[in-house]
Amino acid sequence: MSGRAPTDRYRDLVNGRIGGKLSKQLGLPRPARLRRHQAGQPLTDGPVLVGQAGAGKLADHVRSLASIELAADSDGRLGGLVLDATGVDALDDLDAVREFLHVGLRRLGSSARVLVLGRPASPSGTVEAAAARQALDGVVRSVAKELRGGATANLVLVDENADPADTESTVNFVLSARSAYVDGQVITVGPSGSAGSRNPAGPAQQGRVVVVTGAARGIGAGIAEVFARDGATVVCLDVPAQGEALTATANRIGGLAVQLDITAPDAPKRLVEHLKSRHGGLDVIVHNAGITRDKLLVNMDAARWDAVLAVNLRAQLALNDALLADGGPLRSGGRIVSVASTSGIAGNRGQTNYAASKAGVIGLVRALAPTLEPRGITANAVAPGFIETEMTAKMPLGTREAGRRINSLQQGGLPVDVAETIAWLAEPGSGGVTGQVVRVCGQSILGA
Ligand SMILES: NC(=O)c1ccc[n+]([C@@H]2O[C@H](COP(=O)([O-])OP(=O)(O)OC[C@H]3O[C@@H](n4cnc5c(N)ncnc54)[C@H](O)[C@@H]3O)[C@@H](O)[C@H]2O)c1
Repeated sequence: MSGRAPTDRYRDLVNGRIGGKLSKQLGLPRPARLRRHQAGQPLTDGPVLVGQAGAGKLADHVRSLASIELAADSDGRLGGLVLDATGVDALDDLDAVREFLHVGLRRLGSSARVLVLGRPASPSGTVEAAAARQALDGVVRSVAKELRGGATANLVLVDENADPADTESTVNFVLSARSAYVDGQVITVGPSGSAGSRNPAGPAQQGRVVVVTGAARGIGAGIAEVFARDGATVVCLDVPAQGEALTATANRIGGLAVQLDITAPDAPKRLVEHLKSRHGGLDVIVHNAGITRDKLLVNMDAARWDAVLAVNLRAQLALNDALLADGGPLRSGGRIVSVASTSGIAGNRGQTNYAASKAGVIGLVRALAPTLEPRGITANAVAPGFIETEMTAKMPLGTREAGRRINSLQQGGLPVDVAETIAWLAEPGSGGVTGQVVRVCGQSILGA
């Protein structure tokens, strides 16, 4: 993966023999080595036990997925648990949730996956049904905090109108090593609404044109690499000052380098022209470029404020307008994914400008998503927590160590973790996931 991701020496230490014993005796955090995607690996590290609470309708569909190795209902280490709780509509149904997880959790191996499928609250349902459905949220978020060894737990709420096939890309992502740093999240899947949007047999992004802004380094370079791995033609975009690093990224992945400052008034026009003349259109735009200019608000001058809002928010609005305009290059079935931040959810001292821009991005995708449904285009945001990049490597030791450990996985994520999450949202089969904010933060206590 790109860039020099700083090493987490503490994690390496506690995964050694002596460090492991010592940290256990002293009750210190023991971050595990997370299982991450490798070509040809099975979906989970061990078979998956599929269960049901209430009269759910998805368990059989999950059992039928070719990607999942099913576990026998007996002893043995498990790679994951899937609980179909879409039938939970009464408080008594929760007994079966407790029972299944109580027994199953003991059998989980390291980096295992717990996936609970529920239903979103329905305005026409009873108050008890709403309470029972919401209870799953508390169960899953707590289980995520109890798990160790790199295991994660997530809740996927499946809309009544969604076809079981609409859930496949999300079930596969959540169970796989690609979701290594996605933990304690609640993701809603609705009907995809567009025929023929399911996963093709080939690589997930085969034949698609993807633009990644801020692709010269860090998370952006990681995003470009994952899309190229998955078969896309990647247009890597960054400021001219980063020209050399941008060319290096583009060459490494066999993509194209476009030097463009996204805040320039003619940037949308130039990007549209490039996409139309060179690629005939666009399938995915990843708004990743971002900057920080930190100061307490009492010391924040207009220049710092304006610069951050311009790159992180205004430029996204302007680019989206041009890409989505009548005759614009973003094709039907297209994907817009914006990189927000947990700072935009929880706020952060010294970052009013940055948090405003990132919260603004969340507002942007939520408002945009419903307007794009008729065109089969989705708009989502990912909110990274602490990611190991050159930026976080420059933090003072104490702040960095605290940032790394205050999440359920007790470590920072990697650029590839953000990239994999974006790639899942951009998959042709993820048409039912829109207007959402998925945190890639190891279930950070910030903004939980
Ligand atoms: N690193 C983290 O822990 C973290 C956490 C949460 C969110 N994020 C977000 O993730 C994204 C990537 O962060 P990173 O850590 O890789 O940062 P980075 O500074 O390493 O990379 C950002 C890239 O964006 C480019 N860029 C900046 N202004 C631009 C402009 N006007 N036009 C075109 N390109 C421009 C930069 O040149 C750079 O290559 C940002 O949006 C950031 O806010 C990062």
